[in-house]
Amino acid sequence: MNMEKIRRDFPLFGTMLNGKGVVYFDNACQTLRPRAVIDAVKDYYEKYPACGGRSSHKLANEVTRKCDEARKTIAKFIGAKTKEEIIFTRNTTEGINLVANSLKLNRGDIVLTTDKEHNSNLIPWQVLAKKKGIIHKIVPSKQDNSFDLEKFKEIMEESRGNIKLTAMVLTSNLDGTTIPAEEIIKISRQYGAMVLLDAAQAAPHRKIDVNKLDADFMAFSGHKMLGPSGTGVLYGKYRLLEKLEPFLTGGDTVEYSTYGGHKFLPPPEKFEAGLQNYAGIIGLGEAVKYMEKIGMKNIAAQEYKLNKFITEEMAEIPGLKIIGPADPASRGGIVSFYVDGIDSHQIALILDETANVMIRSGQHCAHSWFASRGIAGSARVSAYFYNTIDDCRVFVQNLKKIINVLR
Ligand SMILES: Cc1ncc(COP(=O)(O)O)c(C=O)c1O
Repeated sequence: MNMEKIRRDFPLFGTMLNGKGVVYFDNACQTLRPRAVIDAVKDYYEKYPACGGRSSHKLANEVTRKCDEARKTIAKFIGAKTKEEIIFTRNTTEGINLVANSLKLNRGDIVLTTDKEHNSNLIPWQVLAKKKGIIHKIVPSKQDNSFDLEKFKEIMEESRGNIKLTAMVLTSNLDGTTIPAEEIIKISRQYGAMVLLDAAQAAPHRKIDVNKLDADFMAFSGHKMLGPSGTGVLYGKYRLLEKLEPFLTGGDTVEYSTYGGHKFLPPPEKFEAGLQNYAGIIGLGEAVKYMEKIGMKNIAAQEYKLNKFITEEMAEIPGLKIIGPADPASRGGIVSFYVDGIDSHQIALILDETANVMIRSGQHCAHSWFASRGIAGSARVSAYFYNTIDDCRVFVQNLKKIINVLR
């Protein structure tokens, strides 16, 4: 990869803050956006700022055409069979809530998650447990925080007959580990359970083929993969989407309505209620094209290189613990760590203030995992393909200094 050329595509790298460049390591929250995405959004507002799918004048037709093109691009990117399997949402959270509220789950139905879920894939099931009496079960991770396939099989067996959905985080935002989705899906099938994948931290980082994987639903966010803020996608198998009741209803979801009733449109329209984030959708299409141009293999390889460098450097810091497996190859672009006796927020704050190194600290919306282990929180570096070894060096050198001062 030509890093200099890539970095020129991201306006933020040309920016100085307090006389220094920026080291952006908070990509699990949101990535930066390349010029192509920013321009696509700007073009929408400047050249055709109209509704899609409704009016039939020139501007509206252009919006409809561009949104349709984005839907096709995204369908191809994840290996969906048709573009109608792609529903635009605001984010991963909305996609998961759509599935939770549209599946007809009843009292006693079991939904199985990991013990490392982001609140987006935890709270919806807890709410359904309260409202409808579904049963939410959790697969505990192994000692090194990786997925315990044997435990999963045991829980599936004890849930036989009632297990309706395996809803799991594909790649964890907490430690970057990825679950063995293929095996999980095969086993879920044997018990008649559907599978929903939270791919918020997976889709931006490696090739996923939903068709090969045989996933039933998959949610991900545009803003974590170079796309505009407040964009997301829910993939669903068409025959399942046809059966789901929409969660939000209203304009654009129906073929017609009378005072007494209505007829819903087929998927995806019946799930996309009201005017949409057209600029965002078009921008997300551009973001996917950009990622494809870089190549998903190259993205994963660069993240590994960066993670390896940081992990090796961190081995020299006494009292520092990395969450998850020791091998950086198992943790994508994420290094989540804590240092005995030092508040993670303080580390993040000083890195930002003194060196413009931007990371995240806290419990990363996975409060349940931290609470169950009595860990206050972690500092999390999340790298993306545009980060460099120089970025890692600046981070590690400053981290070492800060830890020495705070100790
Ligand atoms: C694994 C995972 N799932 C879900 C989400 C929620 O994403 P969003 O806030 O875009 O809905 C995140 C966000 O960080 C995440 O990392």
